[in-house]
Amino acid sequence: MAAKNILVTGGTGYIGSHTVLQLLQEGFRVVAVDSLYNSSEVAINRVAELAGDAKKNLVFEQVDLRDREALNKVFASTKFDAVIHFAGLKAVGESVQRPLLYYNNNLIGTITLLEVMAAHGCKNFIFSSSATVYGWPKQVPCTEEFPLSAANVYGRTKLIIEDMCRDIHKSDSDWNIIFLRYFNPVGAHPSGEIGEDPRGIPNNLMPFVQQVAVGRRPALTVYGSDYSTKDGTGVRDYIHILDLADGHLAALKKLFQDKSIGCEVYNLGTGKGTSVLEMVAAFEKASGKKIPLIMADRRPGDAEIVYASTEKAEQELNWRAKYGIEEMCRDQWNWASKNPYGYEAAESES
Ligand code: NAD
Ligand code: UFG
Repeated sequence: MAAKNILVTGGTGYIGSHTVLQLLQEGFRVVAVDSLYNSSEVAINRVAELAGDAKKNLVFEQVDLRDREALNKVFASTKFDAVIHFAGLKAVGESVQRPLLYYNNNLIGTITLLEVMAAHGCKNFIFSSSATVYGWPKQVPCTEEFPLSAANVYGRTKLIIEDMCRDIHKSDSDWNIIFLRYFNPVGAHPSGEIGEDPRGIPNNLMPFVQQVAVGRRPALTVYGSDYSTKDGTGVRDYIHILDLADGHLAALKKLFQDKSIGCEVYNLGTGKGTSVLEMVAAFEKASGKKIPLIMADRRPGDAEIVYASTEKAEQELNWRAKYGIEEMCRDQWNWASKNPYGYEAAESES
């Protein structure tokens, strides 16, 4: 059987690059597109190196999804069996300060993509949604049926895209759509060659911790120590990036096997909650580095405890996370110690 062709948008980004590698390792042919707005081409070059012989099955194109002409060319060059759509802007604080940038990029990018897909007869779609759509959940674990809400502009773009997809499927049942609601992806490929490399000051916990560990920042600010949790700090469901990438392979399999899937949603998390202080302790152990802490007020908009119910993904996708926080911290540190400034050094060499 001929290898299936997958279009990956946002393919040079953190989650995209790890997923592209796994797709290649599983024998898929991949076209990755990215505007490089928040990522480096070095990432996809490293993916190609890690893929060995399978690198012949990888093409990268620098394309902004809002550029319909460029996107049409990509679809004219290859008949895609499915699209995995990672491309989007994701900084919560920035989304509140610059709403039009986020609505323009995330919504117009996705609408253009869906229109071009339909025009070329590709109606298999996997979308990166987020646990942010659960807002401040009234109870945990979060199941896929929980009420949805948007606490910020970024979250609203996720909700709008989910709603749009539900409407598209209602109007045309040829579409097969899966939303994957990610909890908190962390860690890196065990090779230490690819990992998360945010531009500017990191918003998220582990990229910040990693930059403290390599000496780029003096201390971690812990946002809130008066939550009703085991040690007063916020609790999240951290998931190893390898497990998260693997969840996409499972979703793709489901999409190809179950032609009547319609429009479905799955959480990708571990089902376990870990506090900020527990995560810091695990990272200190893995790295041998002390992370100085500054205890501060709660960050506006942050929920107290968020973790996933993993039952649906386990039962219907036959997928579950394999790794724990020790492996997440070990691989995060391996990436950080090999690439203290992310892809920057490799960028200036090329
Ligand atoms: P990332 O920023 O590393 O990757 C996203 C990529 O999309 C970047 O490489 C960026 O350059 C590209 N991009 C943005 N707008 C584009 C456009 N208009 N056209 C083409 N490319 C464009 O982020 P990530 O962590 O890999 O996240 C991937 C997806 O998963 C995003 O949609 C994000 O919202 C979602 N998500 C991420 C997390 C997380 O914690 N990392 C959690 C939940 C959901
Ligand atoms: N935290 C700190 N200090 C920091 C950064 C974070 O104490 O410098 C704390 C937060 O208060 C929270 C925990 O660490 O308790 C995790 O924070 P992150 O910012 O890493 O993750 P969030 O769960 O707040 O949000 C992230 C993404 C969202 C996404 C959500 C679920 O930023 O976009 O995960 O996927 F929606």
